[in-house]
Amino acid sequence: MIRLVVDTDPGVDDAHAIMAAAAYPDARIEAVTTVKGNVSLERTTANACTILDVMGINAPIYAGCEQALVAESGGAEGFHGADGLGDSAYPPSPRKVEAEHAVHALIRLANAEPGALTLVALGPLTNLALALRLDPTLPRKYRRLVVMGGAIRSMGNTTLTAEFNFHADPEAAAIILRDWTPLTLVSWETTVEHPFSEAQVKALLAHNSPRAEFLRRISQGALTFLEHLFGRPTMLEPDLLAMAAALEPEIVRRKATHHVAVELSGALTRGQTCVDWYGMSGKQPNVELALEMNTERVWELLQAALI
Ligand code: RIB
Ligand code: CA
Repeated sequence: MIRLVVDTDPGVDDAHAIMAAAAYPDARIEAVTTVKGNVSLERTTANACTILDVMGINAPIYAGCEQALVAESGGAEGFHGADGLGDSAYPPSPRKVEAEHAVHALIRLANAEPGALTLVALGPLTNLALALRLDPTLPRKYRRLVVMGGAIRSMGNTTLTAEFNFHADPEAAAIILRDWTPLTLVSWETTVEHPFSEAQVKALLAHNSPRAEFLRRISQGALTFLEHLFGRPTMLEPDLLAMAAALEPEIVRRKATHHVAVELSGALTRGQTCVDWYGMSGKQPNVELALEMNTERVWELLQAALI
Protein backbone atom coordinates (compact mmCIF):
# COMPACT_ATOMS: atom_id res chain seq x y z
CA MET A 1 0.00 0.00 0.00
CA ILE A 2 1.41 3.39 -1.07
CA ARG A 3 0.46 5.90 1.59
CA LEU A 4 0.34 9.34 0.01
CA VAL A 5 0.65 12.89 1.25
CA VAL A 6 -0.24 15.27 -1.60
CA ASP A 7 0.88 18.92 -1.56
CA THR A 8 -1.16 20.67 -4.19
CA ASP A 9 -2.60 23.84 -5.75
CA PRO A 10 -5.76 22.58 -7.53
CA GLY A 11 -5.75 23.27 -10.44
CA VAL A 12 -7.24 21.12 -13.16
CA ASP A 13 -4.29 18.76 -13.59
CA ASP A 14 -3.89 18.58 -9.80
CA ALA A 15 -7.48 17.36 -9.75
CA HIS A 16 -6.71 14.68 -12.36
CA ALA A 17 -3.73 13.55 -10.30
CA ILE A 18 -5.71 13.36 -7.06
CA MET A 19 -8.56 11.51 -8.82
CA ALA A 20 -6.14 8.90 -10.16
CA ALA A 21 -4.54 8.44 -6.73
CA ALA A 22 -7.93 8.19 -5.02
CA ALA A 23 -8.98 5.42 -7.40
CA TYR A 24 -5.70 3.53 -7.32
CA PRO A 25 -6.30 0.20 -5.55
CA ASP A 26 -2.90 -0.01 -3.88
CA ALA A 27 -2.68 3.56 -2.65
CA ARG A 28 -4.29 5.57 0.13
CA ILE A 29 -4.34 9.36 0.38
CA GLU A 30 -3.41 9.98 4.01
CA ALA A 31 -3.45 13.79 3.84
CA VAL A 32 -3.71 16.70 1.43
CA THR A 33 -1.84 19.96 2.01
CA THR A 34 -2.70 23.00 -0.05
CA VAL A 35 -0.64 25.94 -1.20
CA LYS A 36 -1.16 29.14 -3.16
CA GLY A 37 -0.29 28.56 -6.77
CA ASN A 38 -2.63 28.27 -9.73
CA VAL A 39 -5.14 30.27 -7.72
CA SER A 40 -5.32 31.70 -4.19
CA LEU A 41 -4.85 29.50 -1.12
CA GLU A 42 -8.53 29.97 -0.32
CA ARG A 43 -9.46 28.58 -3.74
CA THR A 44 -6.90 25.78 -3.85
CA THR A 45 -8.10 24.65 -0.43
CA ALA A 46 -11.78 24.82 -1.40
CA ASN A 47 -10.96 22.92 -4.60
CA ALA A 48 -9.14 20.20 -2.69
CA CYS A 49 -12.30 19.75 -0.58
CA THR A 50 -14.46 19.47 -3.71
CA ILE A 51 -12.14 16.95 -5.36
CA LEU A 52 -12.07 14.70 -2.29
CA ASP A 53 -15.88 14.99 -2.05
CA VAL A 54 -16.26 13.85 -5.66
CA MET A 55 -13.90 10.91 -5.07
CA GLY A 56 -15.39 9.99 -1.70
CA ILE A 57 -12.09 10.32 0.14
CA ASN A 58 -12.14 11.36 3.80
CA ALA A 59 -8.49 12.34 4.15
CA PRO A 60 -7.71 15.46 6.19
CA ILE A 61 -6.93 18.68 4.33
CA TYR A 62 -4.45 21.18 5.76
CA ALA A 63 -4.20 24.69 4.35
CA GLY A 64 -0.65 25.95 3.87
CA CYS A 65 1.10 29.05 2.68
CA GLU A 66 -0.90 31.81 1.05
CA GLN A 67 2.13 33.40 -0.55
CA ALA A 68 5.62 32.53 -1.74
CA LEU A 69 8.64 32.76 0.55
CA VAL A 70 9.98 35.99 -0.93
CA ALA A 71 8.46 37.57 -4.03
CA GLU A 72 4.81 37.44 -4.94
CA SER A 73 3.91 36.03 -8.32
CA GLY A 74 0.74 35.61 -10.32
CA GLY A 75 -1.52 32.61 -10.66
CA ALA A 76 -2.59 30.55 -13.64
CA GLU A 77 -6.25 31.51 -13.83
CA GLY A 78 -5.98 31.86 -17.60
CA PHE A 79 -5.61 28.08 -17.88
CA HIS A 80 -7.32 26.77 -14.73
CA GLY A 81 -10.18 29.30 -14.53
CA ALA A 82 -10.77 31.97 -11.92
CA ASP A 83 -11.98 29.34 -9.45
CA GLY A 84 -9.09 26.97 -10.27
CA LEU A 85 -11.42 24.21 -11.48
CA GLY A 86 -12.34 25.43 -14.93
CA ASP A 87 -14.96 27.87 -13.61
CA SER A 88 -17.13 24.82 -13.07
CA ALA A 89 -18.90 26.61 -10.20
CA TYR A 90 -19.32 23.59 -7.96
CA PRO A 91 -21.08 24.55 -4.69
CA PRO A 92 -18.81 24.98 -1.67
CA SER A 93 -17.92 21.71 0.03
CA PRO A 94 -19.31 21.15 3.55
CA ARG A 95 -15.97 19.54 4.42
CA LYS A 96 -14.04 21.11 7.30
CA VAL A 97 -10.37 21.92 6.78
CA GLU A 98 -8.02 21.03 9.65
CA ALA A 99 -6.91 23.84 11.97
CA GLU A 100 -3.25 22.73 11.84
CA HIS A 101 -1.10 24.53 9.28
CA ALA A 102 0.07 22.38 6.38
CA VAL A 103 3.73 22.99 7.19
CA HIS A 104 3.28 21.64 10.72
CA ALA A 105 1.23 18.73 9.37
CA LEU A 106 3.95 17.78 6.88
CA ILE A 107 6.44 17.63 9.75
CA ARG A 108 4.13 15.84 12.21
CA LEU A 109 3.00 13.17 9.74
CA ALA A 110 6.56 12.21 8.79
CA ASN A 111 7.75 12.09 12.40
CA ALA A 112 4.74 10.03 13.46
CA GLU A 113 5.55 7.32 10.92
CA PRO A 114 9.11 7.65 9.60
CA GLY A 115 9.59 5.94 6.23
CA ALA A 116 5.90 5.22 5.74
CA LEU A 117 4.68 8.11 3.62
CA THR A 118 5.26 9.07 -0.01
CA LEU A 119 5.12 12.83 -0.60
CA VAL A 120 3.93 14.11 -3.97
CA ALA A 121 4.33 17.86 -4.62
CA LEU A 122 2.13 19.25 -7.38
CA GLY A 123 2.40 22.99 -6.84
CA PRO A 124 4.89 25.64 -5.73
CA LEU A 125 7.20 24.21 -3.07
CA THR A 126 6.55 26.84 -0.40
CA ASN A 127 5.08 24.45 2.20
CA LEU A 128 7.82 21.88 1.68
CA ALA A 129 10.61 24.44 1.93
CA LEU A 130 9.33 25.81 5.24
CA ALA A 131 8.79 22.30 6.59
CA LEU A 132 12.34 21.39 5.61
CA ARG A 133 13.73 24.45 7.35
CA LEU A 134 11.84 23.56 10.52
CA ASP A 135 12.82 19.87 10.34
CA PRO A 136 15.92 19.11 8.22
CA THR A 137 15.48 15.39 8.86
CA LEU A 138 12.34 15.21 6.70
CA PRO A 139 14.07 13.75 3.61
CA ARG A 140 14.99 10.74 5.74
CA LYS A 141 11.48 10.43 7.15
CA TYR A 142 9.44 10.53 3.95
CA ARG A 143 9.75 7.31 1.99
CA ARG A 144 10.00 9.23 -1.26
CA LEU A 145 9.44 12.70 -2.74
CA VAL A 146 8.11 13.17 -6.28
CA VAL A 147 7.87 16.74 -7.56
CA MET A 148 6.15 18.18 -10.60
CA GLY A 149 8.15 21.22 -11.57
CA GLY A 150 10.93 22.83 -13.47
CA ALA A 151 11.80 23.23 -17.12
CA ILE A 152 14.87 21.02 -17.51
CA ARG A 153 15.79 22.40 -20.93
CA SER A 154 14.62 25.88 -19.94
CA MET A 155 11.61 25.73 -22.24
CA GLY A 156 9.42 27.69 -19.88
CA ASN A 157 5.62 27.75 -19.74
CA THR A 158 5.44 30.85 -17.55
CA THR A 159 8.48 32.90 -18.60
CA LEU A 160 10.77 32.12 -21.49
CA THR A 161 12.88 29.88 -19.25
CA ALA A 162 10.80 29.03 -16.16
CA GLU A 163 8.02 26.54 -15.40
CA PHE A 164 5.07 27.73 -13.29
CA ASN A 165 5.69 25.91 -9.96
CA PHE A 166 9.37 26.87 -9.82
CA HIS A 167 8.70 30.41 -11.01
CA ALA A 168 5.91 30.90 -8.46
CA ASP A 169 8.38 30.33 -5.62
CA PRO A 170 11.98 30.04 -6.87
CA GLU A 171 13.49 30.27 -3.39
CA ALA A 172 11.38 27.35 -2.22
CA ALA A 173 12.35 25.32 -5.29
CA ALA A 174 16.02 26.16 -4.72
CA ILE A 175 15.83 25.01 -1.10
CA ILE A 176 14.13 21.71 -1.96
CA LEU A 177 16.44 20.87 -4.87
CA ARG A 178 19.51 21.67 -2.78
CA ASP A 179 18.56 20.16 0.56
CA TRP A 180 15.99 17.43 -0.10
CA THR A 181 17.79 14.53 -1.71
CA PRO A 182 16.95 12.27 -3.36
CA LEU A 183 13.87 13.42 -5.21
CA THR A 184 12.23 12.52 -8.51
CA LEU A 185 11.35 15.44 -10.79
CA VAL A 186 8.74 15.37 -13.55
CA SER A 187 9.40 18.48 -15.63
CA TRP A 188 7.45 20.62 -18.05
CA GLU A 189 9.36 19.30 -21.06
CA THR A 190 8.61 15.72 -20.06
CA THR A 191 4.96 16.77 -19.76
CA VAL A 192 4.88 18.25 -23.27
CA GLU A 193 6.59 15.14 -24.65
CA HIS A 194 3.91 12.87 -23.16
CA PRO A 195 0.53 14.39 -24.12
CA PHE A 196 -2.75 12.50 -24.21
CA SER A 197 -3.82 11.92 -27.81
CA GLU A 198 -7.14 13.08 -29.26
CA ALA A 199 -8.44 9.50 -28.98
CA GLN A 200 -7.35 9.24 -25.36
CA VAL A 201 -9.01 12.55 -24.51
CA LYS A 202 -12.23 11.52 -26.27
CA ALA A 203 -12.29 8.19 -24.43
CA LEU A 204 -11.90 9.95 -21.08
CA LEU A 205 -14.72 12.37 -21.87
CA ALA A 206 -17.04 9.62 -23.09
CA HIS A 207 -17.56 8.00 -19.69
CA ASN A 208 -21.00 8.31 -18.16
CA SER A 209 -20.50 8.70 -14.40
CA PRO A 210 -20.58 11.53 -11.84
CA ARG A 211 -16.77 11.50 -11.72
CA ALA A 212 -16.55 11.70 -15.51
CA GLU A 213 -19.03 14.58 -15.44
CA PHE A 214 -16.78 16.31 -12.90
CA LEU A 215 -13.74 15.74 -15.10
CA ARG A 216 -15.57 17.14 -18.12
CA ARG A 217 -16.84 20.22 -16.29
CA ILE A 218 -13.48 21.17 -14.76
CA SER A 219 -11.39 20.32 -17.83
CA GLN A 220 -13.30 21.87 -20.73
CA GLY A 221 -11.61 25.27 -20.44
CA ALA A 222 -8.16 23.72 -20.34
CA LEU A 223 -8.98 21.48 -23.29
CA THR A 224 -10.17 24.47 -25.32
CA PHE A 225 -7.01 26.40 -24.38
CA LEU A 226 -4.78 23.51 -25.48
CA GLU A 227 -6.70 22.88 -28.71
CA HIS A 228 -6.20 26.52 -29.69
CA LEU A 229 -2.51 26.24 -28.80
CA PHE A 230 -1.79 22.94 -30.56
CA GLY A 231 -4.44 23.01 -33.29
CA ARG A 232 -5.89 19.66 -32.23
CA PRO A 233 -7.59 18.17 -29.14
CA THR A 234 -4.95 17.14 -26.58
CA MET A 235 -4.36 17.22 -22.86
CA LEU A 236 -1.14 17.95 -21.02
CA GLU A 237 -0.96 16.29 -17.61
CA PRO A 238 2.03 17.55 -15.56
CA ASP A 239 0.64 16.68 -12.14
CA LEU A 240 -0.91 13.38 -13.24
CA LEU A 241 2.47 12.29 -14.63
CA ALA A 242 4.13 13.09 -11.31
CA MET A 243 1.43 11.22 -9.39
CA ALA A 244 1.74 8.26 -11.77
CA ALA A 245 5.51 8.16 -11.15
CA ALA A 246 4.76 7.93 -7.44
CA LEU A 247 2.09 5.23 -7.85
CA GLU A 248 4.03 3.07 -10.31
CA PRO A 249 7.74 4.00 -10.51
CA GLU A 250 8.14 1.65 -13.49
CA ILE A 251 5.96 4.08 -15.44
CA VAL A 252 9.18 6.08 -15.78
CA ARG A 253 10.87 4.25 -18.65
CA ARG A 254 14.00 6.41 -18.83
CA LYS A 255 15.50 8.58 -16.11
CA ALA A 256 18.81 10.25 -15.36
CA THR A 257 20.27 11.81 -12.24
CA HIS A 258 22.00 15.15 -12.55
CA HIS A 259 22.86 18.13 -10.42
CA VAL A 260 20.00 20.62 -10.68
CA ALA A 261 19.72 24.14 -9.24
CA VAL A 262 17.30 27.06 -9.60
CA GLU A 263 18.23 30.55 -10.73
CA LEU A 264 17.05 33.21 -8.28
CA SER A 265 18.28 36.53 -9.57
CA GLY A 266 18.30 36.57 -13.37
CA ALA A 267 16.38 39.48 -14.87
CA LEU A 268 15.12 37.16 -17.61
CA THR A 269 15.79 33.81 -15.95
CA ARG A 270 14.48 33.94 -12.37
CA GLY A 271 13.03 30.50 -11.60
CA GLN A 272 15.00 28.80 -14.39
CA THR A 273 15.93 25.16 -13.78
CA CYS A 274 19.66 24.78 -14.35
CA VAL A 275 20.59 21.16 -15.13
CA ASP A 276 24.25 20.09 -15.13
CA TRP A 277 23.77 17.71 -18.08
CA TYR A 278 27.51 17.14 -18.63
CA GLY A 279 28.73 17.02 -15.02
CA MET A 280 30.59 20.29 -15.49
CA SER A 281 29.80 21.75 -12.07
CA GLY A 282 31.60 19.06 -10.11
CA LYS A 283 28.57 19.09 -7.81
CA GLN A 284 26.88 15.91 -6.64
CA PRO A 285 23.94 14.82 -8.82
CA ASN A 286 20.89 15.43 -6.64
CA VAL A 287 17.77 15.04 -8.78
CA GLU A 288 16.37 12.04 -10.64
CA LEU A 289 14.83 13.39 -13.84
CA ALA A 290 11.93 11.44 -15.34
CA LEU A 291 12.63 11.64 -19.05
CA GLU A 292 10.45 9.02 -20.75
CA MET A 293 7.16 7.76 -19.36
CA ASN A 294 4.51 5.21 -20.27
CA THR A 295 1.75 7.60 -21.33
CA GLU A 296 -0.67 4.77 -22.06
CA ARG A 297 -0.40 3.53 -18.49
CA VAL A 298 -0.78 7.08 -17.12
CA TRP A 299 -3.95 7.41 -19.17
CA GLU A 300 -5.23 4.10 -17.76
CA LEU A 301 -4.75 5.41 -14.21
CA LEU A 302 -6.98 8.41 -14.92
CA GLN A 303 -9.45 6.30 -16.89
CA ALA A 304 -9.83 4.03 -13.85
CA ALA A 305 -10.89 7.02 -11.77
CA LEU A 306 -13.88 7.73 -13.99
CA ILE A 307 -15.73 4.47 -13.73
O1 RIB B 1 3.73 23.98 -14.87
C1 RIB B 1 2.71 23.06 -14.55
C2 RIB B 1 2.38 23.13 -13.10
O2 RIB B 1 1.88 24.42 -12.79
C3 RIB B 1 1.27 22.15 -12.69
O3 RIB B 1 1.47 21.75 -11.35
C4 RIB B 1 0.02 22.97 -12.79
O4 RIB B 1 -1.00 22.54 -11.91
C5 RIB B 1 0.53 24.32 -12.36
O5 RIB B 1 0.49 24.34 -10.94
CA1 CA C 1 -0.33 21.98 -9.74
